[in-house]
Amino acid sequence: MNVPKLNQATFSQISKGFDPIASRSHSLHSRCYQDPHFAEIERQHIFHNSWQFLCHEKQLASPGAYVATEIQGQSVFACRDKSGELQAFYNVCKHRGHELLKGRGQVNLIACPYHAWVYELNGKLASARRSELIEDFILEEICLDSIRVEVFCHLVFVNLNPNAISLSQQSEGLADEVLSYAPDLSELAHAHTLTYSIKANWKAVVDNFLECYHCPVAHRDFCTLVEMDTYKVKTHGIYSSHMAKAGRSENKAYGIDSAEVTDHAVWYLWPNTTLMRYPGRGNFMVWRFYPAGPEETYEVFDFFFETNSPNDAEREAIKFIDETLQPEDIALVESVQRGMRTPAFNQGRYLVDPENSGLSEHAVHHFHSLILDAYQRAVES
Ligand code: FES
Ligand SMILES: [Fe+2]
Repeated sequence: MNVPKLNQATFSQISKGFDPIASRSHSLHSRCYQDPHFAEIERQHIFHNSWQFLCHEKQLASPGAYVATEIQGQSVFACRDKSGELQAFYNVCKHRGHELLKGRGQVNLIACPYHAWVYELNGKLASARRSELIEDFILEEICLDSIRVEVFCHLVFVNLNPNAISLSQQSEGLADEVLSYAPDLSELAHAHTLTYSIKANWKAVVDNFLECYHCPVAHRDFCTLVEMDTYKVKTHGIYSSHMAKAGRSENKAYGIDSAEVTDHAVWYLWPNTTLMRYPGRGNFMVWRFYPAGPEETYEVFDFFFETNSPNDAEREAIKFIDETLQPEDIALVESVQRGMRTPAFNQGRYLVDPENSGLSEHAVHHFHSLILDAYQRAVES
């Protein structure tokens, strides 16, 4: 496969004005938010080279359980094999390349829907119809191509780069932090999914997620749910932490009066995953932003609760996200995308403060520096 290269001149052009010090820096150039060349660079150098969330480990607990997905054009699946090992493979049959599994489910063996070759859950070919007629056909030599899989904070991640450094090593400190806020994460069950199609580049959606400078202006209700004075944002390596105490409010989206969880804890994890713990009963959310084109994002939001269906308070919280926060944010980023298409906007400043408050935009600068590091690697590749 052809790995696209970024030339040095283009890199110098789009990193112009960016400074390692956020308060002096200008943001990423608008060209990176619309040019298909950058979308292709990101596909291969970022999405095919990073840890991508797949599911909660509970969803792959029993032998034969599988979850299939697509990582930017590459079909993959993970499953629990008969010996209890977690395995992950390209979802591609070794006969003619047909996809093997769809969605999620439970199987004893993996049977290809095209000509019914059958694989064990460890990827080894178990049978191929009429192969006994072929002289040098050696079943034992045929096996699915495996990919990297890792359980991180009881969540399953996969990575298409066979040499990737483990996620726990890359995100040092994050697992301890997440589990200190969500010690019950291993017990939580998948209860709900929200999805959105957004007419904006995925980076514009992440940018918006990473700052609450816009919250008092665009999310008045949200500001009553958290104590904005306690909101702190810290960046570390490939992640950032966004923490606040829940406020006491009339808004029923966060019922904290009898809640076990009273913190609003959010983490951004490079490149496109966010992890969240909201006030209320034991809960966890995993939110991902996938490019669906240079100017389109597909967003998936999975909710994990103490039970596999939300209670009344959780239904209120989901409704608040789906009917208030998301429409507000989607309108913002779609407007930004339209602005970026004009010659009137190329890059802007980051409004940062030394206290690293929730109003500061230093986590956006941190994200952009990770994007530029990836572009730099694309120049050197
Ligand atoms: S492509 Fe899978 S059996 Fe033929
Ligand atoms: Fe927002």
